[in-house]
Amino acid sequence: MAFDIDMIKAVYDRFPDRIAAARKAVDKPLTLTEKILYAHLTEGPASKAYERGKSYVDFQPDRVAMQDATAQMALLQFMQAGKDQVAVPSTVHCDHLIQAEVGAEKDLNKAKDKNREVYDFLASVSNKYGIGFWKPGAGIIHQVVLENYAFPGGMMIGTDSHTPNAGGLGMVAIGVGGADACDVMAGLPWELKFPKLIGVKLTGKMSGWTAAKDVILKVAGILTVKGGTGAIVEYFGEGARSLSATGKGTICNMGAEIGATTSIFGYDEKSAAYLKGTGRADIAEMADAIAEHLTGDDEVYANPEKYFDQVIEINLSELEPHVNGPFTPDLAWPISKFANAVKENGWPAKLEVGLIGSCTNSSYEDISRAASLAQQAVDKKLTAKSEYTITPGSEQVRFTVERDGFLDTFGKMGGVVLANACGPCIGQWARHGADKQEKNSIITSFNRNFAKRADGNPNTHAFVASPEIVTALAIAGDLTFNPITDTLTNADGEQVKLEEPRGLEMPTKGFAVEDAGYQAPAEDGSKVEVIVDPKSDRLQLLESFPAWEGTDLKGLKLLIKAKGKCTTDHISMAGPWLKYRGHLDNISNNMLIGAVNAFNDSTNRVKNQLTGEYGEVPATQRQYKAKGIGSIVVGDENYGEGSSREHAAMEPRFLGVRAILVKSFARIHETNLKKQGMLALTFANPSDYDLVQEDDSIDINGLTSFAPGEPLELVLNHSDGSSHTILANHTYNEGQIEWFKAGSALNLIKAGAN
Ligand code: F3S
Repeated sequence: MAFDIDMIKAVYDRFPDRIAAARKAVDKPLTLTEKILYAHLTEGPASKAYERGKSYVDFQPDRVAMQDATAQMALLQFMQAGKDQVAVPSTVHCDHLIQAEVGAEKDLNKAKDKNREVYDFLASVSNKYGIGFWKPGAGIIHQVVLENYAFPGGMMIGTDSHTPNAGGLGMVAIGVGGADACDVMAGLPWELKFPKLIGVKLTGKMSGWTAAKDVILKVAGILTVKGGTGAIVEYFGEGARSLSATGKGTICNMGAEIGATTSIFGYDEKSAAYLKGTGRADIAEMADAIAEHLTGDDEVYANPEKYFDQVIEINLSELEPHVNGPFTPDLAWPISKFANAVKENGWPAKLEVGLIGSCTNSSYEDISRAASLAQQAVDKKLTAKSEYTITPGSEQVRFTVERDGFLDTFGKMGGVVLANACGPCIGQWARHGADKQEKNSIITSFNRNFAKRADGNPNTHAFVASPEIVTALAIAGDLTFNPITDTLTNADGEQVKLEEPRGLEMPTKGFAVEDAGYQAPAEDGSKVEVIVDPKSDRLQLLESFPAWEGTDLKGLKLLIKAKGKCTTDHISMAGPWLKYRGHLDNISNNMLIGAVNAFNDSTNRVKNQLTGEYGEVPATQRQYKAKGIGSIVVGDENYGEGSSREHAAMEPRFLGVRAILVKSFARIHETNLKKQGMLALTFANPSDYDLVQEDDSIDINGLTSFAPGEPLELVLNHSDGSSHTILANHTYNEGQIEWFKAGSALNLIKAGAN
């Protein structure tokens, strides 16, 4: 059903030659990460070595995965590319829009109703363009990908930050924005700065209460939330080989919390067992045939300091269970020190809710080990003192753990099974009483625990731990409980102790499912109609942006001179605006409302040069647009840093801004602007920023001879009749200049497709 064996065979067939070429180019032993990256170069076999942390490289990913919130704009854009089918196998997963309230069935039905138009749209686009569609209730993107699509040595991009989960099965899997997904689906290369490499050597073997989750909780404590930025984390050593494939997935998943580009484990017996257990024995066989290429070279792992930019060593035999938090995932506490930390910091010791599951920790192994504790609670006459919820990661896992009796066991302990979806992990949690904003504690087996993430209450202290520790603490109802050393009082007044959790990596009777929730696309999608209600306020079909008019741009009004930090969040805010992600006109009403106007230090208050009045940025820009007058946005250093949200580039383009002129750009945003046909320019002399005045009309000259490396000339026409002529640099190459001329990269693809 779900995986593309021919594609994987083609990838494996080219591995030996590509790796031989990489070995020659790099001229030293290779890490696994390097093998996979060099095997996926757009240029084919490597002709040279790329510099880590410096070179920008074009790659050819094998797959694309999208979740429902981000897929909307990615697919609306893809529709603009004029293609009949996606260029690489792609899937859509409906998981983010289901709110947890009372329990799986009711919550799912409510979500289907509320999000019907979005689901119908995603289903119909998927059907038309050859994209696999996983319906609401089928599961969480990363768990479904691990069970069905991840394969050792593969490369995937996904429109979600926890895409690295697939690294548990040896895949380079990276979270991206919708525009990147659209490009790859349209057959374009995908650009990435060649990452730095962090090696994590795992020695020893876990036992008792320690779980795979504790490895990443420990690593997060060492590296902090920024420590992995721009790097791929590669795990190796006998300890790595002892972990289950899903345990490895947990570690890679939460690598996102240290800012890593992705994380990865090599192919081993556990990977083969998981592939076989999930119906993919043929892939395991193919992987076995090239196994030497699906792990780093022996010499690399023998002397890691010589080949990685940074090396960390963790002895699993000594690793304690950890609890991380509150409010940040890198505040790591070994369980033996946690009770003290709770007391010393005055965190609420009473535990209100324990939540297990999510894309991070909902494998059969996780659920079976947590259920072994729930069973002990029942046997030892303990009732859970906290509320307790279970979010299965996929229908396959849910069906199997129900068959094997675990859901029943949780029920006896008072647990509530939620829909197979993100739910509380993404704030889709109608938690009763959260609006009172009381100080309280919860613990989850999820990955993120920033303030307000789960329930919107800034005073909820959220901690992160393994499902086993979450379950034990929920039984105790107390954050200061250490299950390794402490006892609990049962219904008969006796002191009882929880034994170590026990579980199975995979079900002895095999996985089972009645309806996995997958919908295959039509063989021939040409007749499929894409459903979008023209009256919808959540979805809007895109129209192509107009091509460049062929002349210099004269008399552009200054819309705003932004001062200081201006991230993609300042340009296109998230929060309540998320629901308009599929409607460019509506979401454009948040354009630049977070940017600080250098002339009055206010946000969302700029001078309308047509009326002389001050107004909101989007409304002012709409007036210029209505009169057919172009405008320009001026910004400071590192403009557009933050998440690679394509809306931050599309909104100004849609509303008629023609150029963004800044001291410097965050590179991803700069590329996104270029893709949308916008002029992304930098002051040749950064102090010229100070010359820009509030009433300026600006001319951009030199566009008729726009060429790589040639600056453009800008004339700042001031309201007193004086002017300054300045130079602006750009980084457009020949191809990107064609995007500008065509009106957008998609327009150009479309022209080629027809
Ligand atoms: Fe969903 Fe939370 Fe994972 S939002 S994709 S379950 S990190």
